[in-house]
Amino acid sequence: MKTRTMERRRFLKSTAVAGSGLLILPSGVLFGQDAPSNKLNIALIGAYGRAAAHYNALSTENVVALCDVNELNLAQGVKRFPGAKTYVDWRKCIEQSDLDAVVCCTPDHHHAFVGNWALNRGLHVYMEKPLGLSIEEVRTVRENYLKNKGKLATQHGTQRHAFPNFNRVRELIHDGAIGELQAVHAWGDRQFRKSGYLPAEGSPPATLDYDQWIGPSPYHPYNPDYFSGSVGMNCLQWNMYWDFGNGQVGDMGSHTMDLAWNVIEAGLPVSAEAFGEPFNPEVTPVELTAMFELPANDWRPAIPCAWYQGGHMPQSPLDAVHLSGSFGHGVLFKGSKGYVVSSFDNRILIPFGDEADLTYYHARSKEELEPPITPSFQGEWINACKGDLKTSCDFEYGGNEMEMMDLGLVAYRFPGEKLEYDGKEGKVTNLDAANAFLSRKYRPGWELDG
Ligand SMILES: NC(=O)c1ccc[n+]([C@@H]2O[C@H](COP(=O)([O-])OP(=O)(O)OC[C@H]3O[C@@H](n4cnc5c(N)ncnc54)[C@H](O)[C@@H]3O)[C@@H](O)[C@H]2O)c1
Repeated sequence: MKTRTMERRRFLKSTAVAGSGLLILPSGVLFGQDAPSNKLNIALIGAYGRAAAHYNALSTENVVALCDVNELNLAQGVKRFPGAKTYVDWRKCIEQSDLDAVVCCTPDHHHAFVGNWALNRGLHVYMEKPLGLSIEEVRTVRENYLKNKGKLATQHGTQRHAFPNFNRVRELIHDGAIGELQAVHAWGDRQFRKSGYLPAEGSPPATLDYDQWIGPSPYHPYNPDYFSGSVGMNCLQWNMYWDFGNGQVGDMGSHTMDLAWNVIEAGLPVSAEAFGEPFNPEVTPVELTAMFELPANDWRPAIPCAWYQGGHMPQSPLDAVHLSGSFGHGVLFKGSKGYVVSSFDNRILIPFGDEADLTYYHARSKEELEPPITPSFQGEWINACKGDLKTSCDFEYGGNEMEMMDLGLVAYRFPGEKLEYDGKEGKVTNLDAANAFLSRKYRPGWELDG
């Protein structure tokens, strides 16, 4: 880690802890948390699209570097953060000497690379989801974070985590509203069907560095359709192709499984099995069910946990509750005395059986509720960078979640097989052929853990 960066970090941290708001001296000099010298120097990699959703939160800090492979998108970033230096290659951007932190909003196939490179240079990281596309990618980023735990703050970009409903669902289940937790089912209904990589069509515009867009992934010819989505939704033009994304597993799956993960306090699964539509070597599945076994922890037994997508669904516990309607993305928690069905911002409690009189359950008082994430999901990370380094979705939490989800896509390649998984070693122990799919192939010159 660069000495200059470390000294700056120590200064930011001590002023954040000691500083109590804003003090205005007669000279007009500002001290405290909002003083100019007390702001993070941030590189925003992937400067438009999803990045625009972070502009407001980042505008309290110094965005000193912007990186984008598309000149027009870079210009959007410059419009908002005029003082920033600009880059096309994130590997150069990340070397800018005054950086404290990186926010990465590139396409998914760069995420683990940017995450590792930033952590290895002593930079705090906010990483759009998904953290990585393979088991190896997720494990490397998590390991680099764990090496730096206590020095760096990380946040996996599952911002719905800040919705109050996440805490309310957690409280219901932890406080025993459905008795002992027995199973968890999460699902999503986004469906984008493609048959294979797009055929070559035209040539990249002069404003786009297409080779840099491809980055570490195997080369596929340019087609304008990869870039034809609306601002902030363009990911839906490329994230279903194996070399650029992991489909709905990383798209809505990362958000929806987070709703479960926040409750179940799980580590890594000990097994995975999956089935879906026939395997396509170019495109990730639309239809998929992936089932995992999660070991017991100190408050619940071992539980099965499942992810459904593309029309696959768990069975509703009650005819009146249509899981695929208002609960387009949701989680069903099954307990010994009932169910909770939850979307991102709403929940239904369904007690069942003769014992389910709810007398065993005492709702919390307002004072006892889990505290909200403040001032925002992004703001929590910004404050953590300057303060206690604690965030709701650090790369250990998000890394475990995404490792399980990515393992589901490995199991999907072996229908009918239950893969036994050693999370400590990151290996499938009963089917060696599966281990070949725990990592991805990269183009020469790109180093994952650089
Ligand atoms: N958290 C959420 O709710 C949410 C919502 C939408 C998107 N996302 C995530 O945000 C990321 C971006 O999605 P998007 O829809 O904005 O995609 P996009 O295709 O619009 O790309 C985002 C930006 O990154 C730039 N870019 C592409 N390759 C780059 C590279 N190698 N280096 C630097 N910049 C590069 C693009 O030109 C564009 O400006 C994805 O990982 C997606 O999963 C998250």
